[in-house]
Amino acid sequence: MDIIRIEGVAKAYGRLQVHRDLTLSIRKGECFTLLGPSGCGKTVLLRLIAGFESLDAGRIYIDDTLVSDPRAGINLSPDSRNLGVVFQDYAVWPHMTVFGNVAYPLKLAGVTPSELNSRVGETIALVGLGGLEKRLPSELSGGQQQRVALARALVAKPSLMLLDEPLTNLDANLREEMRFEIKELQRKLGITVLYVTPDQEIALAISDRMAVMDGQGRIRQTGGPWDIFERPADPFVFNFMGIANFVPVRRQGGDFLVGGGGQRLPWNHPPGGDAPDWVAGFRPSDVVLARGGEGLRGVVRRASFLGAMMDYLIDIDGASLRTSLETHAALADRLMFAEGESCVVGFRNLIWFDARRLGEVAKR
Ligand SMILES: Nc1ncnc2c1ncn2[C@@H]1O[C@H](COP(=O)(O)OP(=O)(O)OP(=O)(O)O)[C@@H](O)[C@H]1O
Ligand SMILES: [Mg+2]
Repeated sequence: MDIIRIEGVAKAYGRLQVHRDLTLSIRKGECFTLLGPSGCGKTVLLRLIAGFESLDAGRIYIDDTLVSDPRAGINLSPDSRNLGVVFQDYAVWPHMTVFGNVAYPLKLAGVTPSELNSRVGETIALVGLGGLEKRLPSELSGGQQQRVALARALVAKPSLMLLDEPLTNLDANLREEMRFEIKELQRKLGITVLYVTPDQEIALAISDRMAVMDGQGRIRQTGGPWDIFERPADPFVFNFMGIANFVPVRRQGGDFLVGGGGQRLPWNHPPGGDAPDWVAGFRPSDVVLARGGEGLRGVVRRASFLGAMMDYLIDIDGASLRTSLETHAALADRLMFAEGESCVVGFRNLIWFDARRLGEVAKR
């Protein structure tokens, strides 16, 4: 069953059309991530769902209740939508203790003191802040402040949480840890989470399903993390999900020639269809490097040692591609290349795109 239904939603600020005809459903109990580049309208969408902004057109349903519909004059207030919201800046009250911050929504709701005490205590323990009840936000780390904001949103026991990339202000290790904790909390509490982020690794790690939005606020693909990563709908999605190589392939007679040269692609032909030119998309990890044997002849233009990995930039007749190789494997297999050395390139996996759609790949 769907817990959020967004139908044909439009929103503009002056001449800036952020959303047009946006349709999206979130199922009850899932962790759904909305992934898209900075400025594509993720926060605006969360504000529309939460009721902090009004729609220009369309409808939003939460739990089958129509909460926003400008044509019918419906716009339920944020308090009556039963949502927990953690916004990007996760502002916590600086003058209130951890306890005070988390208790605040219950005080507003007029909960009795004994119930308030027990629920605040439970929620603080749930997010791992037990013992820090009396601290002020200025006496907490960024990650701990984040947990306060999370607890404050959870204390009212919402069935739906909207989380706006709360991890961006945290250092890399803490973000790693927090993403698993958020997923764990979601499972434990059985709530629905709508999570918004520009970071594809987070989206892959925590989502049951996800949607990829482009810079114009259009949803390009919705699906499970595996589908989005392995079966991208278009070059934009493929490019957005990680380092992407696009190597042009031209049709000449019955052959497919790579880059600007005459090397034939001996395997894995593009699918049928009327496109004259194709691009082969692949990840750095899809490349198999060798010193000889069958494959495309290339030259290593740049060799970078990144610690655990070696990163090579390889030129094949004017087409360049990036590949990465575990340093230990490169050492064991004699694949530590120097700049200017020649190499042979094969592929584990190629995804074919019509070259005419490559223009859609926006630079990140
Ligand atoms: N209140 C507002 N008035 C005018 N323009 C706004 C307003 N809020 C957002 N915008 C504009 O709408 C667009 C989408 O903004 P939004 O905050 O939703 O982006 P985002 O996807 O959350 O980006 P980020 O990943 O950087 O947080 C931006 O161009 C932004 O400048
Ligand atoms: Mg935002």
